[in-house]
Amino acid sequence: MTRIVSLDITRWQPPYDEATQQRAIEALESGDVLVLPHLAFQLSPQETRFLSPAWSDAHAKNISLERGTLKGARGKPADLDALSHMIERFAHGAGELVAGLFPRYAPYVKRARTSFRPQPAVGRGLSWRKDDSRLHIDAFPSRPNHGERILRVFCNVNPRQDRVWRVGDQFAPMAQTFLPRIRSQRRWSPRLLAMLHVTKGKRSEYDHLMLGLHDQAKADLAYQSGCPQQTVHFAPGSTWLCFSDQVMHAAVSGQHMLEQTIHLPIAALYDPDSSPLAVLQRLCGRPLLSAH
Ligand SMILES: [Fe+2]
Repeated sequence: MTRIVSLDITRWQPPYDEATQQRAIEALESGDVLVLPHLAFQLSPQETRFLSPAWSDAHAKNISLERGTLKGARGKPADLDALSHMIERFAHGAGELVAGLFPRYAPYVKRARTSFRPQPAVGRGLSWRKDDSRLHIDAFPSRPNHGERILRVFCNVNPRQDRVWRVGDQFAPMAQTFLPRIRSQRRWSPRLLAMLHVTKGKRSEYDHLMLGLHDQAKADLAYQSGCPQQTVHFAPGSTWLCFSDQVMHAAVSGQHMLEQTIHLPIAALYDPDSSPLAVLQRLCGRPLLSAH
């Protein structure tokens, strides 16, 4: 089962000692969830007003900041500026933390999307495929990533309420369960989907299988209730990290979270053999990155 590894880090800024780095690297790359129970993201007294779903524009699931542009939020320009600053400060802290704990990742910490989630974690009545209260690995239908890793840093900024997850089985046994159920990708499909702009670039066999694992796991209710799993509480003021393309996770409850996504090439990993790409290639017995 997915393990929860706790580290006593209290600063977003490096340096971190070598033993701490080593524990963090081993845990993260072997598919554990790394919890930093004493690393809070401090909101200023003026920023606590953002802990309300009223700032969401009702269309998007989350408020997001990408390359300085705020999306999914509504409010007066001055308020939205202050909200952007809060999210930007978290993005900076998360970047420093990752570069400090995992020096090999530092050159790749290009900031992707940062999100602020003032809505309750569950209860939006979505289709089963979009229902993140079911255990899943992250895989995105429109954005093939060809094995690139999805590292996510989360922080519970709710002053009172835990963020609660379920975490499930480790990646390899989960993949062994579902790989046989995934239909092979049609030869013409990657090119067609890219041409129609359904996907951004061509979907590799790796991307096809990752989507298949995501869908098959979510669709199987017996697996959802019967697979190895545990419930994890992330207390107010705690931070946690994981490779969300590797860790089976599901939202149970909570509200008000900040999240930073960092995309990492396989070459940045300390142990590329632990990546989902390597695991799937071993299980399938062939390379999975050549698009047909
Ligand atoms: Fe997810």
